[in-house]
Amino acid sequence: MKILIVGNGGREHALLWKLKKDAPSAEFFVTRPNPGMAPLATAVDLAPDDVEGLASFAQGESMSLTVVGPEIPLARGIADVFSRRSLPVFGPTAAAARIESSKAFAKELMERVGVPTAAHRAFRRWEEAQAHILEQDAPLVVKASGLAAGKGAVVATSRDEALAAAREMLQGEAFGDAGSEIVVEDFMEGEELSVFGITDGRHVTLLIPSQDHKRIGEGDTGPNTGGMGAYAPVPSVDVRLMDQIRDRIFLPVLDAMETSARPFRGLLYAGLMLTASGPKVVEFNCRFGDPETQVVLPLLADSILELLVAVARGGSIAGARVQWNGKAALNTVLASEGYPGSYETGREITMPTTSPVEDEDLLIFHAGTTIADGKLVTAGGRVFSSVGLGTDLGHARKRSLEGAEAIDFQGKVFRRDIGWRAMAGAATPEGSDQTQPAPPIRGRASRDSGATSG
Ligand code: GLY
Repeated sequence: MKILIVGNGGREHALLWKLKKDAPSAEFFVTRPNPGMAPLATAVDLAPDDVEGLASFAQGESMSLTVVGPEIPLARGIADVFSRRSLPVFGPTAAAARIESSKAFAKELMERVGVPTAAHRAFRRWEEAQAHILEQDAPLVVKASGLAAGKGAVVATSRDEALAAAREMLQGEAFGDAGSEIVVEDFMEGEELSVFGITDGRHVTLLIPSQDHKRIGEGDTGPNTGGMGAYAPVPSVDVRLMDQIRDRIFLPVLDAMETSARPFRGLLYAGLMLTASGPKVVEFNCRFGDPETQVVLPLLADSILELLVAVARGGSIAGARVQWNGKAALNTVLASEGYPGSYETGREITMPTTSPVEDEDLLIFHAGTTIADGKLVTAGGRVFSSVGLGTDLGHARKRSLEGAEAIDFQGKVFRRDIGWRAMAGAATPEGSDQTQPAPPIRGRASRDSGATSG
């Protein structure tokens, strides 16, 4: 079996690690693999968004499966090109990926089918956005409608801040074309939750929920990043809540996508806010999340490969369930000083030499690393994921922080408080080894054998 992974960040390293466990004898290929991935796969010297080049490569190699990590190739139609050539690909078409590539589209769809989300208005013209914002009360959220690497949302605590964010986006100063349309929405209060659903377009298997930490600073302060850490499972989430998320959020959206001739096949990621009046959607993404994938996949006791292959081949996953291993996982992201703004690259990285940095309770996934002059150096804003595993979140955090401390480079930045909400909610002191997560949720298939029509 030959498997191509498109992308070379922490999420893709975790996907490669998991798929290699699921299919040890498979041959793996990765687009420009980072130094953590390189020993596990054959390098493909093509950019992730070179969709035609990748399709030709996959065709030439008779690739059994291609898994697409980042959103940009999906928005550019990689799944459409692969499907036209009958190549199995895990990821939605460009039309379906609009659920991430256009926040305005996603909000309109949710409003149409009654999926709970914050009230919103979309704007392309500054004068109209300005008039609307002046009528609202702060706090307000201003979002670039297009793709902005997870950084396109501004939580404005005053009207002036909202006006400044809207103007910068609409004038192309903040996110280029991605900000040519903006969404202004009500601020939602609560805890964030990331839920991944593997879907064939009609049936969905939800994976264990996780919680991301988007702000750069401890205590959730400072600007938004792509994600500075994550943990799973989330103790406050039970089976009843997951059923509600499946029935009120995932299924209506999948139905609407199917009836509007853009069926979503792949990984649908719901970024949720757990508000006092129930879960509401902050955003949808059309791919696995980063850094959440790095904690979700190590908790999977079952293989994920068969589900990905079934979806990629256009088959059904009706009735599919996955089992979890009962552990907790916590990911601390090591970033370059200055991120999410500008930062230096090329800083030499020292990995511990006295003992192996990884063991059964510590996984190090590379992200922004490369080899220069024979040395491992930094090459991005997010450099590593240090994922601790344990019987509970306290253990997982301890191992994760040990990994984060052990790796060294000039300007290394990381948060020591990943998981603080779960720890604060626990009966034991912060960081205690006795912190117990709730029993893991089982992913569940939503419908049997296509019994419900879309
Ligand atoms: N963790 C946020 C994202 O993947 O977009």
